[in-house]
Amino acid sequence: MKVLIVGGGGREHALAWKLSQSPRLTGLFATPGSAAIAEVAQCVPLEGIGGLEAMADFAEKEGIGLTVVGPEAPLVEGIADLFASRGLPVFGPTAAAARLEGSKVFSKAFMERHGIPTAAHKAFDALEPALEYVKALDGPCVVKASGLAAGKGVILCEDADQAEAALRRIMETRAFGDAGAEVVVEEWLRGEEASFFAICDGKDFIAMPAAQDHKPVGDLDRGPNTGGMGAYCPTPLVTPEMEAMVIEQVVRPTLAGMAAEGHPYSGVLYVGLMIDNGAAKVLEYNCRFGDPECQPLMMMLESDLLDVLEAAAQGRIAECRPNWRGGAAACIVMASEGYPGQYEKGRPIAGIEAADAMENCRVFHAGTERPGTGEKGDLNKSGGWAGDGVWTTNGGRVLGVTAWGHDLGAALKTGYQAVENISWPGAHYRKDIGLKGLKRMDDGRPKVNVGIVLGSVSDMDVAKKATAVLDALGVGYELAVASAHRTPERTRRFVAACAEAGAEVFIAIAGMAAALPGVVAAETQAPVIGVPVKSGAFEGLDALLSIVQMPPGIPVATVAVGGGANAALLAAQMLGLKYPGVAAAVTEYRLAQALKVEDAHREAGLSTLI
Ligand code: AMP
Ligand code: GLY
Repeated sequence: MKVLIVGGGGREHALAWKLSQSPRLTGLFATPGSAAIAEVAQCVPLEGIGGLEAMADFAEKEGIGLTVVGPEAPLVEGIADLFASRGLPVFGPTAAAARLEGSKVFSKAFMERHGIPTAAHKAFDALEPALEYVKALDGPCVVKASGLAAGKGVILCEDADQAEAALRRIMETRAFGDAGAEVVVEEWLRGEEASFFAICDGKDFIAMPAAQDHKPVGDLDRGPNTGGMGAYCPTPLVTPEMEAMVIEQVVRPTLAGMAAEGHPYSGVLYVGLMIDNGAAKVLEYNCRFGDPECQPLMMMLESDLLDVLEAAAQGRIAECRPNWRGGAAACIVMASEGYPGQYEKGRPIAGIEAADAMENCRVFHAGTERPGTGEKGDLNKSGGWAGDGVWTTNGGRVLGVTAWGHDLGAALKTGYQAVENISWPGAHYRKDIGLKGLKRMDDGRPKVNVGIVLGSVSDMDVAKKATAVLDALGVGYELAVASAHRTPERTRRFVAACAEAGAEVFIAIAGMAAALPGVVAAETQAPVIGVPVKSGAFEGLDALLSIVQMPPGIPVATVAVGGGANAALLAAQMLGLKYPGVAAAVTEYRLAQALKVEDAHREAGLSTLI
């Protein structure tokens, strides 16, 4: 069968890569495609020269058996209707069904009609009543342009002033053009986001592994939103119970509702969810695969994608039982300097081939070119830009480095290894893709993982520094006062009880002639970290020397005088060797520290060279 893919970004590269593996494929075409897609498909420049009609003409002439539409714009414009009217099989919803993404006023009202959980909202088609409403609301809210705005039409507002500015930008200045003729003002939902994908055929569907996107440009979700800086799947945020709930409360009523209203939904239904306290609400619907979520999903799919998409287009999705690989896949987006703001194109990229050659790794191209191969539309013999020049940047999001692993930690390790081998001037990427997932994973760590012993209650200030860090990292601990000199038996019992409860590292905090760390070390084979405390005549030097100078055979790690926080971090680093969730929490902690340094530098108005 011949297949035509509409689009030319990272999502379409992943779809093309996966479809190209189908044994049933006799020809793969993409419009407009890209230099990278040209390696697996023939690219035909049909956009812009008659648009959707030209695509239909091409599909008819070429005998295309299935057209797969990547982006939302042609769907909202009615490509599926046009193809269907000409008897051309297409994967994607009709324009009426694609309103779930194309009109937020429609989708919110639809959810309300069908009792689908979502943020409380109000829709407006004039500025004044909207302004009055946000003034009366007098609190945080989200202002959304109703129409398509390339992912930029959603503005989170802390207060009425920000909401007024957002409304004026959308409705008065028309920052997003006609997409801002109507707005939705809604409740600001808190929680963690997940992307849920169902492949639908109008009545039935199959669910894909739930994914998580990373929208803000900076580490730890800082900075402006982007199209997505990375994604992974499956996400432990969507437990099997949560998946069942989303299917019952969202996917089924959405399909039933659309069918009942005369617009059966076929294609990918992408449900953006906000999950909080075991409940999920719909943030938005999209009528297509997520980009970059599609990239890890394609790495996870074992079955033939063509079979799945064709079954959906033919109304047979219920017969389809695709196999998914075990483990997990992650995509790390590498972006141009300045993105999501202004950026330059044309910077040469090094290292793509080496990354692509790595096992379980694929580099999907979102915005690249190969100069020397002609302008867009200047095709070579095979109908693609199959030049052999160096890859150069040609967009904001440039690459989606995607890796599979036997678990999320392994996928991320491979992915980041590949990323570190790719470079161009100004390239940036997030260092924390997937960490939220790793932190949430049940890694089997005991509820009590660290035993903390204080020689005296006067050491509590130092202990608090340790427990604050362990709390932040999600590491469980038990805390006791037990003097080495006055209550050695009590120390022994506490160490034994902690070990029994699961403690694998001990922290012993003591001042003066600090014997406690040594006594704890004598009672356990688990590593012991001693924290000298400043007290008495020698300002902590006495405790430091007592702890640092242990007899051979009884090692005790020593941190700074009063170094409760460092002791906790060192304990967590040790535990991180065994528990991926702890390792992820430590990575986040370190990233947060680095960001604090950068913030302080910026706020002090220091050198702009770095
Ligand atoms: P949308 O285009 O509706 O998907 O919104 C884009 C992003 O804005 C979402 O992925 C969320 O991060 C955020 N967002 C949208 N609606 C809300 C809401 N009601 N509460 C909090 N965040 C939201
Ligand atoms: N990754 C977000 C989107 O595709 O809308």
